[in-house]
Amino acid sequence: MSQDLAFAARLLLDAKRIMVFTGAGISTESGIPDFRGTDGIWTKFSPEDFMLDRYVADRAVRTRAWASRFPKMFGNAQPNDAHRAVVDLWEAGKLIGCVTQNIDGLHQAAGLPQHAVAELHGNADGIACLQCGAPHDPADIEQRWIEGDVDPRCDHCGGILKSTIVFFGEILPHSEVEQANRWAEEADAVVAVGSSLSVYPAAYVPLEIASRGNTFIIINKGPTDLDSVASIKLEGMAATLLPRLVDAITS
Ligand code: APR
Repeated sequence: MSQDLAFAARLLLDAKRIMVFTGAGISTESGIPDFRGTDGIWTKFSPEDFMLDRYVADRAVRTRAWASRFPKMFGNAQPNDAHRAVVDLWEAGKLIGCVTQNIDGLHQAAGLPQHAVAELHGNADGIACLQCGAPHDPADIEQRWIEGDVDPRCDHCGGILKSTIVFFGEILPHSEVEQANRWAEEADAVVAVGSSLSVYPAAYVPLEIASRGNTFIIINKGPTDLDSVASIKLEGMAATLLPRLVDAITS
């Protein structure tokens, strides 16, 4: 075990209520690109296509969004060893909760119960009406899309439909933010994995825990905006480093 990993494990040894805070980097080893990495999503798509006002105003933006959503937004992506390490921490009784910026559902697919996950930026599973809020069955909307409806509308009010992914300019889901804040108040350590820690308000969550003098460990390939605030930064791949760290504090 590297000296840094051993030091990080020692910092976590007495922690009983660890928060794991994740970003797109925890899912790249499952085949899902991150946003700001070398082949990130923002090198292929414009963030403007993910702005709520553009989505509402521009049918072409909505058409592109549905084309990227169906048939399966993340293909056949499966959880990797980093997602499984978060479950191990939960089963060891040391995880207070996992706050994720990801919309891929891989934490739950790895075995983390839904009540142990707060999805700050929503998830790609649901579909709802922007006008009346009515939820819609994704299978029904996918069938309509397959039959050529490239801009499906609400069954109840004819409003614009949208995946339950938080777009830029959209309010974060209240229940998820509340849950993340509750965990942030109670946590005695936080491990941030695979995030540039550059987007707010999400990045306030680990900062809240660190600002009370608690252990703040960052696992990331490359620099993050909060490296200078961390108790220790572990440079490298999530699916290698997180399992080793969790093994060191649970076995
Ligand atoms: N292991 C560790 N780190 C990795 C790995 C990996 N296998 N793969 C990529 N990374 C690192 C990248 O180098 C990058 O620093 O993960 C970080 C991912 O950062 P971002 O791409 O900025 O993703 P994230 O922090 O989740 O972005 C936050 O920004 O665009 C919005 O809503 C979007 O939720 C997203 C938010």
